[in-house]
Amino acid sequence: MKIETLAVHAANEPDSATGAIAPPIHLSTTFLRAEDGSYPGGYVYGRSANPNRVALEDAVAQLEGGKAAAAFASGLAAIHSVFASLQAGDHAVISGDIYHGTRSMLEKVLQRWGLEFTYVNFEDWDSVAAAVRKTTRLIYVETPSNPLMKVVDLSKVAKLADDAGAKLVVDNTLSTPVLQRPLELGADISVHSSTKYFGGHSDVTGGVVVVKSEDDFFSRIREVQGLAGGVPSPFDCWLVKRGLATLPLRVTTQARNAQAIAEFLHAHKNVSAVHYPGLPSHPGHETARAQMTAFGGMLSFQVKAGETAARKVASTMKLFKQATSLGGIESLVEHRASVAGEQASTPRDLLRLSIGIEHVDDLVEDLDEALNAAKN
Ligand SMILES: Cc1ncc(COP(=O)(O)O)c(C=O)c1O
Repeated sequence: MKIETLAVHAANEPDSATGAIAPPIHLSTTFLRAEDGSYPGGYVYGRSANPNRVALEDAVAQLEGGKAAAAFASGLAAIHSVFASLQAGDHAVISGDIYHGTRSMLEKVLQRWGLEFTYVNFEDWDSVAAAVRKTTRLIYVETPSNPLMKVVDLSKVAKLADDAGAKLVVDNTLSTPVLQRPLELGADISVHSSTKYFGGHSDVTGGVVVVKSEDDFFSRIREVQGLAGGVPSPFDCWLVKRGLATLPLRVTTQARNAQAIAEFLHAHKNVSAVHYPGLPSHPGHETARAQMTAFGGMLSFQVKAGETAARKVASTMKLFKQATSLGGIESLVEHRASVAGEQASTPRDLLRLSIGIEHVDDLVEDLDEALNAAKN
């Protein structure tokens, strides 16, 4: 089945009790036990499993081409479960420009528990290979990365991970399985903030871990899910699953709009740099072309006149709302350096765009007006 069909039909049968086409929301936290002590409905207690969560996990696993998935209350809770499934003394090689929240979680929470991390620039292959140790259990990357849109060659890293006996984990939030399929490129685990494109409407927080095989490591992720208990509510699961049905439509439109906007910005006199893998001048263009079907709905650019002008552009646009996050139907702009902290890799004159599903001509006009007004 093609992904457009799967997105509508995966884990989506009419309700057996009522015939309802739209799935009901099961709010019950507890489920009936039979005389013999068994649970005839297959459910026991809300934290351990819930029909809406099971349906969401099943649908995401099918879309991502995985064996199974575990849903969480946020993207960070999902990512946390992967690292919390390691043990003290285990080492992970991590891309240096991952989402700043993931890095803070690793440094402030998990490092205290005896995990060891090496952050590496994946554009420097020698340093990646040199970072691998005997105790390396995970290699963790985002591609394209955020906000500089750097591209990692997933097949190449998958081979390195395989040779090292480590698992390759890919944060596929920015691409979604519509545009990039890490598990088919050799990754073992893919993670998502479903707050972004999966939900797609900026109205639900969530996260998912998808695995290529239901091995012991996935059993540990399930233990973290059920015992640490960072699970999403039934309504949150229902919202994310509803978002999945239109995921291919939204993401392909967002990627098409982003490509046109990147080309427009690339030619604009008040812009000094555009970071978008769909531009032939982008250093990761060829790799992205080989492993993605389109280049995604996120991009960033630098304003020639500097930080003050960049901030003015962000605040004077009308359609682009100035807010954090990404992947919703509405276009957003963000002065990333002031959100990501003092990370050296985020230039002060950079604006990050999350492109929505509006008509691209209106988005271009909004950007053009703001850029022309803020040239100083
Ligand atoms: C690429 C990426 N991964 C993970 C996360 C964390 O997701 P959440 O905010 O749902 O915890 C984010 C949030 O911005 C993100 O951009």
